[in-house]
Amino acid sequence: MHAALSDLLAEADARGGAVGAFTSYNFETAVGILRAAERRGRGAILLVSQQSLSAPGGDLLLRALVAAADAAPVAACVEVDHVADPVLIERAFALGAGAVLADGSRLPLDENIRFVQAAAARGQVEAELGGIEGDEDVAAAVAAGALTEPAQAARFVEETGAACLAVSIGNVHGRYRSPPSLDWPRLEAIANISAIPLSLHGASGLPDADIRRAISLGVRKVNVNTELREEYLAATEKRIGALRAGARVLELNQAQSAAVAAAAERKLDVFG
Ligand code: 13P
Repeated sequence: MHAALSDLLAEADARGGAVGAFTSYNFETAVGILRAAERRGRGAILLVSQQSLSAPGGDLLLRALVAAADAAPVAACVEVDHVADPVLIERAFALGAGAVLADGSRLPLDENIRFVQAAAARGQVEAELGGIEGDEDVAAAVAAGALTEPAQAARFVEETGAACLAVSIGNVHGRYRSPPSLDWPRLEAIANISAIPLSLHGASGLPDADIRRAISLGVRKVNVNTELREEYLAATEKRIGALRAGARVLELNQAQSAAVAAAAERKLDVFG
């Protein structure tokens, strides 16, 4: 059933855990994620990347995932992840997305605030302060000065009208090339200041203990992509040889959903 992003965050807060947000590239991924949520008795967020939405058929994918979330036996929401283009944000809401990450993290603070304000006037938004880098090591992210500044967080949260704040505390998207070392005092400072729930991106490859610690400090949404993709591809690789003979696509899709479900369940167990 459809749930607002803010409702899923409030539910996570009530149990002292985090809601899982998992990137969905296709229907098989979404089926696996929703199945995992059902088995664990949790809500879930289906993330659609900006690249997926912009790709051919992206509109149809978003509509299909919104329909899947609406019909799911668990509370679910579709969020379009990391959108920096206002036109695409408008399109995402028009197509039925429940939330959008209005990503103005590359803008100067005032512009980021105005960008998020405009998006929040159209629907529920997550915002990002500091930048979460992709596929690079933590040292590079730190060197780029991309970490969230606690001193800016209070004003940012108050003025933007965002429902959730994505933090940059040494976390990066994709696999960590060196062991991650999250900036705990920074997270604690942001959590103390922020009136809205925090989200942690780049959970693939983070030790479970780190994820639990982040949740204990106030993170209420955790994003996972790479680990699910890897399981999806490993299942595809494992089964494709045997299934090619009879062109058994349905069985392949089922194996893919099952692999994603197992990976998402493991994460949900950590998210409390
Ligand atoms: P990972 O690919 O590192 O799990 O990051 C996912 C993410 O944060 C999506 O926004």
